[in-house]
Amino acid sequence: MAKSKVKFICQSCGYESAKWMGKCPGCGEWNTMTEEVLKQATPRRAVFAHSTQTVQKPSPITKIETTQEPRIYTNMKEFNRVLGSGIVKGSLVLIGGDPGIGKSTLLLQVSSQLADNHHDVLYISGEESVKQTKLRADRLGVKSDKLLVLSETDLSFISKAIEETQPSFVVVDSIQTVFHSEISSAPGSVSQVRESTAELMRIAKTKGIAVFIVGHVTKEGSIAGPRLLEHMVDTVLYFEGERHHTYRILRAVKNRFGSTNEMGIFEMKEVGLEEVQNPSEIFLEERSKGASGSTVVASMEGTRPVLVEIQALISPTSFGNPRRMATGIDHNRVPLLMAVLEKRVGLLLQNQDAYLKVAGGVKLDEPAIDLAVAVSIASSFKDAPPKPTDVIIGEVGLTGEVRRVSRIEQRVTEAAKLGFKRAIIPEANIGGWNAPKDIEIVGVKNVAEALYKTLGG
Ligand code: TYD
Ligand code: MG
Repeated sequence: MAKSKVKFICQSCGYESAKWMGKCPGCGEWNTMTEEVLKQATPRRAVFAHSTQTVQKPSPITKIETTQEPRIYTNMKEFNRVLGSGIVKGSLVLIGGDPGIGKSTLLLQVSSQLADNHHDVLYISGEESVKQTKLRADRLGVKSDKLLVLSETDLSFISKAIEETQPSFVVVDSIQTVFHSEISSAPGSVSQVRESTAELMRIAKTKGIAVFIVGHVTKEGSIAGPRLLEHMVDTVLYFEGERHHTYRILRAVKNRFGSTNEMGIFEMKEVGLEEVQNPSEIFLEERSKGASGSTVVASMEGTRPVLVEIQALISPTSFGNPRRMATGIDHNRVPLLMAVLEKRVGLLLQNQDAYLKVAGGVKLDEPAIDLAVAVSIASSFKDAPPKPTDVIIGEVGLTGEVRRVSRIEQRVTEAAKLGFKRAIIPEANIGGWNAPKDIEIVGVKNVAEALYKTLGG
């Protein structure tokens, strides 16, 4: 009898070790190493590898023929765009997100639309019974016979069902519930998740089926168990949003068939998710115009500009070290920009607490928001509100200079479309593009000049 091999695997990063350890040397987490019995490399896989792959010779890159990957389009523009215009056949896509955020709802809606467009769809739920799925489907108004549902967790039955029904689109909700009967560790453990994903990958690639898998997210925010799952799949999407808000953001963090940083915005309604066509409007909806500390920036999210409000609250520190807190922007930028304001503009900020927030629960991580953050901080500190019709764009360097940003035309055009009257932009970005007529363009060289122009002397 083949001896089964026991290993200790970190459930958070996938680090393997022959003996148990309290702290994982891979990621430094405590108590994440668990014992798992590994499957012996089965001959089936070895045969599989050799039978389908004839020995390949290296060939010149110019001689390789390319074809456009065939894509399936859904009726949801936002969803198509995040995937890089449509679902690629034979791709494996992982969707992660907090429990209850709407992953099952999104995928059931997508499944239903594809079925309406005459694609065969198989929706496999390991978490809900077919009755529960049906209840949700009734709420969403699903009515195509082409959508098949199955409640199953055993991978061999799942493969068999795919084999028999020959769908063009498969959903596996969720990968943590699926188990491979040859592996003795519990469903959701690293080796189970890894083997199941590898098997689904083989199915997707050999049959040209688009497979979507749902993955749960851990407390720390990575897809549960293994970050290695992210390496195995073609595309990783995150579905995020605050549970108390109805807006949901679908974001690509890895995409072998398109650009990352694309985002799609949805709103959770009584009858499922609805696309939000103009995100800038919703992000600015609740803005209190003319408040000090509030500015608007045009930030690029993938290929699309969105206008978002940046809020700052600066107040004297009551005791101890001043606090610097930021939500939605990189918290290291805040002390940096405050230091620039202190040293280059002469604002005395060292004994002030600073709280920064991007309204609407969006995360911004591009440097083009620096200037808006700096103006917000100064505005709150001086209690001088900027004009509510100003949009502020620019990167700030350590000498206080305002540096040029990419895609200025798109940013300013979006601002003009939403009725902004003046764009404060880097001097270096002036010229060479078509500025919209109904917005005044003001170039600034440094932070001091930007403050003078927005907040006055
Ligand atoms: P769900 O898709 O089950 O989340 P996940 O699969 O990510 O765990 O979403 C569940 C939430 O969505 C639940 O709180 C109810 C809400 N919801 C609506 O508001 N409208 C709807 O039409 C549906 C189906 C769900
Ligand atoms: Mg679910």
